Amino acid sequence: MAQSDVPVSAAAAGSLAEEFAVPSHVEEVKKVMSEFAEQHEAAGRRVVLITSGGTKVPLESRTVRFLDNFSSGRRGASSAEYFLDSGYAVIFLHRHRSLYPYTRLYTGINLLDSLKFEPGDEDTSRVLLNKKELPNIVTVLKRYQAVKAAGLLLPVEFNTLSEYLHLLKAAAQALSSIGSKAMFYLAAAVSDFYIPASEMPEHKIQSSNGPLQISMKMVPKMLRPLVKDWAPKAFVISFKLETDPSILLERARRALDTYNHQVVVANILDTRRGYVVVVTKNSQQELSLTDEEVQKEIEIEDKIVRNLLAAHTHFMSQ
Ligand code: PMT
Repeated sequence: MAQSDVPVSAAAAGSLAEEFAVPSHVEEVKKVMSEFAEQHEAAGRRVVLITSGGTKVPLESRTVRFLDNFSSGRRGASSAEYFLDSGYAVIFLHRHRSLYPYTRLYTGINLLDSLKFEPGDEDTSRVLLNKKELPNIVTVLKRYQAVKAAGLLLPVEFNTLSEYLHLLKAAAQALSSIGSKAMFYLAAAVSDFYIPASEMPEHKIQSSNGPLQISMKMVPKMLRPLVKDWAPKAFVISFKLETDPSILLERARRALDTYNHQVVVANILDTRRGYVVVVTKNSQQELSLTDEEVQKEIEIEDKIVRNLLAAHTHFMSQ
């Protein structure tokens, strides 16, 4: 989706509920996120909210068609694992069915092909796992179970743009009580355009009416109220995705100037898995993978998270 940085006014932020229907479960989820943050802060942990995956914008009220933003959720899911390894508690605000921490390592594998049924009677029949079909499964399972047993990962799902916007606001308010111990890692790909409910056709758009022309409104950028009003003490990282390398850094700097947050991780669509630039107001650092690191299956998110950990520690000490 287009990468414009149209700021949202305080009035526009206030009218979020007027423009975008509030999902019925938001208050309940906000309470759960608040308790999660307070419990982990009391145990001496930092908490990161990761957004991941692309939003979906309906074109019809009874939706057949929608506009989707590109994101597999890989960056968010793998980053969640590195944050967990580093001692953070993680709220994972992700698009339904996008990649998920740990299970992401086995996408593309048919689980049934890795299982073998050994018949017997009711007490002796067994299902066996072929470990060769699921690389590193024992290690990954142990890591996953340890995270689960310690309650370190709180998954929250969104589907539509509306759900994303309201849940992000709720998360920001929920984490405000832990101040600078909260980090926001906004890796989701969010639509810049939407059709207001009042202008949306109710029924399926008919192709018999000829070529489709749609006019869409600008979505308010959530970064401004997040930084200014909802979680002003938090450490905030946004992402900047471009396809044209010549404008990437200028756009990243512009975002920092506009929203006044701490870090922009800038990436280009085609090279995003092996190269990013971490941009702050007074620094810019390239992170990349060598061929050897790629061979060893080291991921760029490992480097991004290490870099941000140090920056978060410094931010908290100020
Ligand atoms: O999921 P993968 O396949 O691994 O891909 C990862 C990624 C390329 C999606 C990721 O690295 C990335 O770049 N995500 C941000 C993409 C994006 O939508 O950028 P943007 O310029 O539109 O938005 C800038 C920032 O503002 C983003 O952090 C976004 O989360 C945030 N935003 C955007 C729109 C909006 N209305 N409110 C927002 O807060």
